[in-house]
Amino acid sequence: MTHNKAPKIGIDIENAKQILQVGGLVAIPTETVYGLAANALNEQAVLKIFEAKNRPYFDPLIIHSNSIEKIKAWVLDFPLWAQQLAQAFWPGPLTLLLPKKNTIPDVITSGLPQVAVRIPNHALTLQLLKSIDFPLAAPSANPFGYISPTQPQHVWAQLQHQVAYILDGGVCEVGLESTIVGFDEGLVVYRLGGLAVEDIERVAGPVQVQTNNSSNPKAPGMIKSHYAPKKPLFIADIASFLKTHADKKVGIISFYQSYGGQYASVEKILSPKKNIKEAAHGLFAALRYFDESDVEVIVSEKFPDSFLGRAINDRLQRAAAK
Ligand code: TXA
Ligand code: MG
Repeated sequence: MTHNKAPKIGIDIENAKQILQVGGLVAIPTETVYGLAANALNEQAVLKIFEAKNRPYFDPLIIHSNSIEKIKAWVLDFPLWAQQLAQAFWPGPLTLLLPKKNTIPDVITSGLPQVAVRIPNHALTLQLLKSIDFPLAAPSANPFGYISPTQPQHVWAQLQHQVAYILDGGVCEVGLESTIVGFDEGLVVYRLGGLAVEDIERVAGPVQVQTNNSSNPKAPGMIKSHYAPKKPLFIADIASFLKTHADKKVGIISFYQSYGGQYASVEKILSPKKNIKEAAHGLFAALRYFDESDVEVIVSEKFPDSFLGRAINDRLQRAAAK
């Protein structure tokens, strides 16, 4: 007897939906990074996410939906500040922290009273979300602590045996995880990400940025070492780094400038046109590329500390902190 095993990767939304309905795991594309999704209202399904990622239970999950109306059924309050930001930036790379109702299992929020919610901006995933009546819990689809996946191949390489299906939405447009915003006397950015602080401030006025809480991290996105490749990574002036590491094969990550041909180096220029969005889009793929290549160390320049350059520097610093 022959078995016709269904392909594990594709654009079959109906298949993705059926797997999620019975408590399975599906990797979903978003504009930021790929997510490892399960029915957020099904505790057993959510536990599978932690197991698949080897993720500690104190690290809470973001829930995803396609509409504010649906989200209102899962939170106690959708205050004015949240409405304002949601209207301006959803669907998009923004996550809001809102007080949760009891229907959201405690395992989602690691026991915290607030739940992180977002409407992602990806046509396939929005279509999937529209077809279900429960939210999808979805952390980035990578083993805990590693670089987030921005291509279906990244998910395949690390989690193909953990997921029932990978919804193939191509390469993620933004390439950095969502920016997380909550309210504590005023607006607070808890994680820098794909939506620039400057863009939030244009709509909502000044915000505080509180992304380092080292001794007692509220959540590991805030732990100093995270998003890290296996190879050592340094943030440095590239020309002088190459001189002092002339005996090593170095992988270079640069914004727009070429350092080509010097010593035994290989380079990834993220945006020859000097476009910071394009640089963000390619950052994680470049880190993965070097991690899998034969370079011995990776060096990146520091990016301009504004707009998405600030989030890029945040990720590089956490990746270098190992
Ligand atoms: O762009 C993204 O946000 C992607 C895509 C898949 O949507 N998801 C993502 O999830 O980056 P994850 O699990 O890798 O990061 C979730 C982070 C946690 O580490 C924590 O920092 C924060 O979101 N978080 C989630 N729930 C929270 C809560 N209740 N209170 C405070 N922080 C929370
Ligand atoms: Mg993550």
